[in-house]
Amino acid sequence: MNLTVVGTGYVGLVTGACFAEMGNTVYCVDVDGEKIARLKQGIIPIYEPGLERIVQSNFKEGRLRFTTSLAEAMADSNVYFIAVGTPPGEDGSADLRYVLGVADEIGRHLGDYAVVVNKSTVPVGTADKVRQAIEDQLAQRGVAHPFDVVSNPEFLKEGAAVDDFMRPDRIIIGSDSERAGEVMRLLYADFSRNHDKIMVMGVRDAEMTKYTANAMLATKISFMNEIANLCDKLGVDVEKVRLGIGSDSRIGYSFIYPGCGYGGSCFPKDVSALIHMAEQNQLFPLVLQSVHQRNMFQKLLMGEKITTRFGQDLSGKTFALWGLAFKPGTDDLREAPSIVLMHQLIGCGAKVQAYDPIAMDAARRELPRAWFENGSLTLAEHQYDALKGADALALVTEWKPFRHPDFGAMKRLMKSPIIFDGRNQYDPTRMETEGFEYFGIGRGKKLAGPGPACG
Ligand code: UDX
Repeated sequence: MNLTVVGTGYVGLVTGACFAEMGNTVYCVDVDGEKIARLKQGIIPIYEPGLERIVQSNFKEGRLRFTTSLAEAMADSNVYFIAVGTPPGEDGSADLRYVLGVADEIGRHLGDYAVVVNKSTVPVGTADKVRQAIEDQLAQRGVAHPFDVVSNPEFLKEGAAVDDFMRPDRIIIGSDSERAGEVMRLLYADFSRNHDKIMVMGVRDAEMTKYTANAMLATKISFMNEIANLCDKLGVDVEKVRLGIGSDSRIGYSFIYPGCGYGGSCFPKDVSALIHMAEQNQLFPLVLQSVHQRNMFQKLLMGEKITTRFGQDLSGKTFALWGLAFKPGTDDLREAPSIVLMHQLIGCGAKVQAYDPIAMDAARRELPRAWFENGSLTLAEHQYDALKGADALALVTEWKPFRHPDFGAMKRLMKSPIIFDGRNQYDPTRMETEGFEYFGIGRGKKLAGPGPACG
């Protein structure tokens, strides 16, 4: 099939490259001419394992094409994916200006029958708005070409996006038209070979499925984080509790790892958008609001543990920070807990020496310039360099190279052997034997005094 994917961000680029890998001809369209020029040279704008290879090979084979012209792409294809951003507006609602802008342009160029697919995460009812925008353009042109709008949400995880696309758990197709449903079934048949993973449902059902999946996962995390904070107070090890409850198949082991809060481009944004949708419909989304608030507090927790241990004035102190990305396997800093922690530490006068295996360039680009200029933040070449002269280490992202470090070498490098572990990577008893003062999340260790207010 010949396809067009509008937007070359995470979702668009992975979608385009994976469909091309299956033999389709795919036009990837973006308004950013520089990005398109770099993609043509095989330079991909994000770190995503496996993506570079399939982008480069499919481009070479001519199956993957890059252009800034939607009209050119549309002239040679009849399925148009909208995969542009839906950033949160000031009130938490999803900003649809880019999605509807693409819909307008599709309406200006639409010829033969086409299926317009919403891949972006969009509020329930957006497909109707997209349909209306296209119809308005057709009316202005005085033509009446047939088309259908389909919702096909993605469930890609950053760091595993190519694999998730190639071997999905499920493929959700929201379509109110049999014709469009058939086109989508055909397109996705190759990704659904072992057993039928395709679920066709109403357009609004599909739109809601996406938000509900992300909000459910965020709820599991926030719930566990709250339990972990209670465990600290009660002298209970949340890791034992996690294993104890995960063994119940109704609960399961996944997404119940407590930590210093969830980040990324999806969970915070989607929970906020769902809250907004509920409020607009005169509901009080008490659970969702709590999920969101717990996460905001959870991101403050490590910083508060540190100031409880060291005092509010951190001037003259240096903290090593392991992990900047919001999770391992990506260089994405969006909504990362590391950023909140750095604001707290630097705000209290401390210096930070940070290291991340992949996100160093992103950090140089995106973190406040002033931190680098006034020496508050230094990026270390190596994970051990970050420890030199540090009063404590804060582990924020659970990258694999942090799992089994040389604790002896760490102790020699650090000024004092203290670890604040935001991802429960180490065993508290072992850390004690190794001679470290160790603070995990919910490992049953009470801090002196009233403890962190945000717990
Ligand atoms: C998420 C969804 O998983 C994916 O299906 C959707 O398409 C996009 O949003 P992603 O943002 O890439 O994917 O990250 P994910 O792996 O889900 O992790 C999100 C955050 O939750 C990370 O900050 C992670 O550290 C945190 N997390 C995850 C926990 O704190 N505890 C857990 O048990 C699991």
